[in-house]
Amino acid sequence: MTHYSHIIGWGKYVPPDILTNFDLEKMVDTTDEWIRTRTGVRERRILKDPEESTATMATRAARDALAKARVDPDDLDLIIVASSSPDYAFPATACLVQDALGASHAGAYDLSAACSGFVYGLAMAHGQIVAGLANTVLVIGSETLSRLIDWSDRNTCVLFGDGAGAVVVQGSDQPGGFLTAELGSDGSGGDLLIVPASGTRHPTTMKTVANGDHYIKMGGREVFRFAVRVMADATRRVVAQAGLALEDIDWIIPHQANVRIIQSSIVKHLKFPAERVYMNLDRYGNTSTASIPLALVDAIEEKKLKPGDNIVFVGFGGGLTWAAAVVQWGVPVPKPPLSFQKQMDLAIHYRWAAIQSFIRRWRRRILGFFLGSPDTETTTEKVSSQLDKVGDQVAKVSRQIHKGEEMNNQQESNNEEE
Ligand code: UT7
Repeated sequence: MTHYSHIIGWGKYVPPDILTNFDLEKMVDTTDEWIRTRTGVRERRILKDPEESTATMATRAARDALAKARVDPDDLDLIIVASSSPDYAFPATACLVQDALGASHAGAYDLSAACSGFVYGLAMAHGQIVAGLANTVLVIGSETLSRLIDWSDRNTCVLFGDGAGAVVVQGSDQPGGFLTAELGSDGSGGDLLIVPASGTRHPTTMKTVANGDHYIKMGGREVFRFAVRVMADATRRVVAQAGLALEDIDWIIPHQANVRIIQSSIVKHLKFPAERVYMNLDRYGNTSTASIPLALVDAIEEKKLKPGDNIVFVGFGGGLTWAAAVVQWGVPVPKPPLSFQKQMDLAIHYRWAAIQSFIRRWRRRILGFFLGSPDTETTTEKVSSQLDKVGDQVAKVSRQIHKGEEMNNQQESNNEEE
């Protein structure tokens, strides 16, 4: 039985379009000075391309993470997408990502815990792994909050941004990795951070649209007070639960909502050194579930983390929810770049995944058109299920060939080193 789970790959995607505080000055009654001093945000990314969405950003971040982890999409057992701005109520954004990755053996589901969602996702991944139900899990936080924002509401529009971050979590016999987590909820504060309409409580009507009830509404001051309290308390508790003291923690990577929240809770209340609290919210704003993985990836890229470092991830958000986890970092960074051959293999895999998805859609439509009732298994269905088996077999053989090549390459490089 596997007792440990480690983050072995990480990736991010942020859209290219930048919205600065000065741009916002032209849109609502605000100033760069107010936004910077009250929140710490200078600019945020906005997903403008209508062809792109939470799922496509999640897929880009996931591909990056899989490449860094050297994990084939076919080897994924589970994909968890934490999001407050999913593509649809259903299907799950995770299913769209699974299809785009061609992750043919992965289960997929969305996780709704607002900004705490990524840490919830890490805990779920660890649980599945140590229970023996999965070995390799992709955890993604992805948000297109710009499409849920009322751009005339200065209380909210200055805060949020778009982006996605992903990690690959894998089972291991090596001690360390995910140590423990605390997940919390106080549903009595649900109305403090809410999109009131477009769910089943208040389905979309002309009236809800006219009221702007399909946009994010927030009681900023109350959420602020809640955040300062739970970020400090949850960090303190989760560190103790891991059998550590705050002095043993090398980095805290908090939810990037507001620099004042981070300073009050972590630096002031916990007296944790500010230089070991990672922040990038000046560049991206609050990207909800994506904020912690985006910060993790930036911290890695800036070579802040080293093997053995104890890291706390801590977040809070709508629900109200909070979550904190302690992870002992186990992977040396940076990793050597992917070989050209592997990059080509992955490019072909993703192209093939898109073709397969297209074929499946059309086969379903054509079968539906010709067969009518689904109750009886026809010759065509038998043929198509045989075709599926052949397809699976081809994929299996090609993976084995690929793994054989990788082992040969590894052998050759070992020989060269000797
Ligand atoms: O992922 C979780 C997401 N949510 C959060 O993290 C929100 C947590 N809350 C906060 O970050 C802060 O409460 C805000 C940044 C939202 C607001 O900061 P604040 O220091 O709590 O300001 P406030 O709401 O107490 O408002 C102070 C003043 C008000 O004017 P008056 O009543 O004093 O005249 C507001 O109308 O600032 C005004 N104000 C603004 N002024 C310029 C509010 N928003 C703006 C703005 N530009 N964008």
